Amino acid sequence: MNTPLRPTHLVINLSQLRRNVQAIRARVHPARVLVMLKANAYGHGLEGVAPYIEKYVDYIGVAVLDEGIALRRMGITRPILVAGGTLPEHVPFFLQHRLTLTVSEPLVLRAAEQASAAAGEPILVHLKIDTGMERAGVRWYEAESLLREAAACQHLRVEGIYTHFANSETLEDPSAPQDPLYAYASQQLARFEETLQWYERNNLPRPPLVHAANSAAILNLPQSYFDMVRPGILFYGIYPDDSALRSVQVEPAATWKSQVVYSKITRAGSPVSYGSLWATEADSRVVTIPCGYADGYFRRMTNQPKIIVNGKKYQQVGRICMDQCMANLQNDPAALGDEVILLGKASSGEKISPEDLAAWAGTNPYEVMTNIAARVPRVFLTEDE
Ligand SMILES: Cc1ncc(COP(=O)(O)O)c(C=O)c1O
Repeated sequence: MNTPLRPTHLVINLSQLRRNVQAIRARVHPARVLVMLKANAYGHGLEGVAPYIEKYVDYIGVAVLDEGIALRRMGITRPILVAGGTLPEHVPFFLQHRLTLTVSEPLVLRAAEQASAAAGEPILVHLKIDTGMERAGVRWYEAESLLREAAACQHLRVEGIYTHFANSETLEDPSAPQDPLYAYASQQLARFEETLQWYERNNLPRPPLVHAANSAAILNLPQSYFDMVRPGILFYGIYPDDSALRSVQVEPAATWKSQVVYSKITRAGSPVSYGSLWATEADSRVVTIPCGYADGYFRRMTNQPKIIVNGKKYQQVGRICMDQCMANLQNDPAALGDEVILLGKASSGEKISPEDLAAWAGTNPYEVMTNIAARVPRVFLTEDE
């Protein structure tokens, strides 16, 4: 293991990521598995996650072209789907880097057909059907002309067709709680099925990769697996929502560690940090931890988080600064270099989950993880190390 200079770093257990993907695969078999490595592998660090995990997955997904190019430059050879929108002028990069293009509308489709014809080599295309997210994708009720035009293309290759759920973590639509048929995800699924029937009606084969399921749908909606599933947050060992079923067992792979860099007794009644928002009631040991909001430890959590120092949980106190924060150890001892855990499990069994940080910050675990700053070094290990 490469020990970084900085006491504050994120340790990624690659073996746990492998187990997570294997658990997902066992659940969705025989569907294939595309893992979402967008946003720096949900903050876990693309440079370590991608090379390790590629042999355990069938496909990789990213949000933007640059992320796909970065993966190719790293030497990743698995197929890569760029799920976000693309401008027509960027289509040639998909050929150059062998990336799979998401097509939601005719201008991009035509650019891909032209580029494929000019190169004498097909761009792989996945058609995106919007079944109720209103983000990207041709709306299901007007998809026919795009499907027809795509099917007539001679040069590009339509390898896939997909949709994305807006709220597959909730099993029932709150506006119609009595009738699960009205659950929004089921409604989206029905719209997608209806779109797919265009192929049967026209005696054409469906594209080989039909896909829809994100993490929540993997947990809740087996009828949405089709040929491939697209886990993001679940792959990293985090459940998308409290209400999602726990039908796949996963564990978080990231531990956010640090060390005590200053330890002193603060006299009773002394305010701590900017704004003097908190003061000691009695003489107390207040330690300084070199992690702040510029590292992704949200300032808005001030005075909310618990922090594990030497295996025990303590209260974070005083305004969280840009580069540092403080914890109140009261009468307990602590010395320079003592172990701190901001997220993850200590050997004592004490634990801080992404959901805990999300609750303290008023957000969800997705934002907690993707917000961990680039300056926090990522350390990758496997369990045999
Ligand atoms: C198109 C697409 N598929 C799959 C995912 C994975 O979602 P999740 O992390 O909820 O599994 C995302 C993420 O937002 C996405 O945009």
